[in-house]
Amino acid sequence: MGRLSSFLIFFFFVFFINATCCRGRSQHPKKHVPFFIFGDSFLDAGNNNYINTSTLDQANFWPYGLTYFKFPTGRFSDGRLVSDFIAKRAKLPLIPPFLQPGFRQYYNGVNFASSGAGALPETFQGFVIDLKTQLSNYYKVASWFRQKLGNDEGEATISRAVHLFSIGSNDYTSPFLTNSTVLKHYNDSTYVGMVIGNLTTVIKGIYRRGGRKFAFINLPELGCLPAMRIIKSENNGSCLEEATRLATLHNQALPKVLFELEKRLKGFKYSLFDFNSSLRQRMQHPSKYGFKEGETACCGSGKYRGVFSCGGKRTVKEFQLCKNPKEYVFWDSFHLTERIYRQLADQMWGGKSNSHDVGPYNLKNLFQFH
Ligand SMILES: *[C@@H]1O[C@H](CO)[C@@H](O)[C@H](O)[C@H]1NC(C)=O
Ligand SMILES: *[C@@H]1O[C@H](CO)[C@@H](O)[C@H](O)[C@H]1NC(C)=O
Ligand SMILES: *[C@@H]1O[C@H](CO)[C@@H](O)[C@H](O)[C@H]1NC(C)=O
Ligand SMILES: *[C@@H]1O[C@H](CO)[C@@H](O)[C@H](O)[C@H]1NC(C)=O
Ligand SMILES: *[C@@H]1O[C@H](CO)[C@@H](O)[C@H](O)[C@H]1NC(C)=O
Ligand SMILES: *[C@@H]1O[C@H](CO)[C@@H](O)[C@H](O)[C@H]1NC(C)=O
Repeated sequence: MGRLSSFLIFFFFVFFINATCCRGRSQHPKKHVPFFIFGDSFLDAGNNNYINTSTLDQANFWPYGLTYFKFPTGRFSDGRLVSDFIAKRAKLPLIPPFLQPGFRQYYNGVNFASSGAGALPETFQGFVIDLKTQLSNYYKVASWFRQKLGNDEGEATISRAVHLFSIGSNDYTSPFLTNSTVLKHYNDSTYVGMVIGNLTTVIKGIYRRGGRKFAFINLPELGCLPAMRIIKSENNGSCLEEATRLATLHNQALPKVLFELEKRLKGFKYSLFDFNSSLRQRMQHPSKYGFKEGETACCGSGKYRGVFSCGGKRTVKEFQLCKNPKEYVFWDSFHLTERIYRQLADQMWGGKSNSHDVGPYNLKNLFQFH
């Protein structure tokens, strides 16, 4: 008896040590998962601070950043963005902008996003880093991983990385904000096809370099952003239907394309978040989500504070700033407050995958797959 139980204890001990210590670890080492961020001002953490652009595409002045960072970082919010909260959930530090001077250690990931950017190179051309250029920057970083870690480990690391996108809003709002005639040359469905087509090209480029995990957010009803509501004064503040219509077409096309890519590209995994529904609920029922105001921005001027003057460094110099950004869904005429970004990030991270909100995977799933 005594012998047998010592033997069992010994056996158990050896087995236990084996399983938890060394063998277990060498077979399933705790591998880090880099986070790559692409797109527009919903995700730009400051790349536009370092390009030659106009203050229309910059947020590196007060009161941007006042809630969390206490200084303007270039983020279009009073604080952190969705990508910042997702990085935190993934136990990563804040992911620096690609253009941040001196930034060379890409180990945890890189933020390539640029405020004002679209999927089409024509969108705010000359003022932004368009998506195709963001892809070339990504190629440089992918080569860095191969150089640092060797081809195999570099590729394995890229295949574990999560690639998050926010793109399209500027392609569909810029025709109404500039004197562009693009919507006279193309009908809505052709134009949306071009945007989705250019996004698809970028996704495939990342896939060819070994990227496998992708996350997307769809578009909100763009015509209901404070800035878009005031474009046609005869509309008397109602949503600009022409812009919302483009967003609707985009939101119908995007899930179809992603579903097709998943079928065609081996190992391709994605998460699509229904940003539209989430934002709509908060705009329509702000108090259910802890807000007091769902339509008017905290910072700006005019009706809905739709005049894009927050900070006084753009065309219009006068602006109002609310007392408590936490009470607002909209921070400025186009962008949201840190408070709602945190709520959205929580849904994207932990929302029931394959639900209406996020699917087929949530961000937590994507970060955990090996
Ligand atoms: C930045 O852009 C302005 C106007 O577009 C131009 O005059 C200036 O030369 C540019 N500066 C650089 C460094 O490219
Ligand atoms: C559009 O063109 C008109 C006339 O050329 C000009 O007055 C207006 O400022 C332009 N608007 C924008 C947004 O460029
Ligand atoms: C849009 O234009 C394309 C090509 O010009 C055409 O094939 C298509 O039928 C048009 N769609 C609509 C809804 O008008
Ligand atoms: C990408 O956009 C350009 C316009 O800049 C368009 O001509 C082209 O067809 C688009 N590409 C795809 C694959 O849709
Ligand atoms: C515009 O909206 C205001 C309130 O927001 C309302 O009092 C007014 O009657 C509306 N005007 C028109 C022409 O609909
Ligand atoms: C947003 O979602 C609502 C339903 O929740 C839908 O009726 C509307 O068409 C959607 N808008 C866009 C731009 O996808």
